[in-house]
Amino acid sequence: MNCSLVIQWKDVNNLGIPLIDDQHRGIVSVINSLGFFVRQDKGEYFLTTAFAMMDCYTKLHFSTEEELLRAAGYEGLDEHRRLHGDLIRESFFTASESVRLCDPDIYLRFLKVWWMEHINKCDRQYATVVADYVSRLAPCEADCVTVGEA
Ligand SMILES: [Fe+2]
Repeated sequence: MNCSLVIQWKDVNNLGIPLIDDQHRGIVSVINSLGFFVRQDKGEYFLTTAFAMMDCYTKLHFSTEEELLRAAGYEGLDEHRRLHGDLIRESFFTASESVRLCDPDIYLRFLKVWWMEHINKCDRQYATVVADYVSRLAPCEADCVTVGEA
């Protein structure tokens, strides 16, 4: 059984914006879950589930990102929003092709390449502006829970 990850998350993938980094890891987790089943030759059974999860999670994540970019006054918001729209359309098209051809690897490869490039190149362009904005927000320690604390 092959349990290796399609994408191994590394510290260098972090943007330094906790909520965004957390969501990015969540997206990578869904991709890795699909990757697990593809490697077991069971990817086609989970393709529609993975697409539904990616679709919902992506919309939630993009809305979060765009709200932070707007609040931080990031000048490239419109262009970044356009990239997000492109992904939603491309993802739907690629997942449909994957289903039509009974080849879940098509969708898996698309997700891997698109997301890692977007996180490490496109998102990095706004990282400093948004990290600076977030660092000036009032802390919410009373609401926060650290996993692993007694
Ligand atoms: Fe983005």
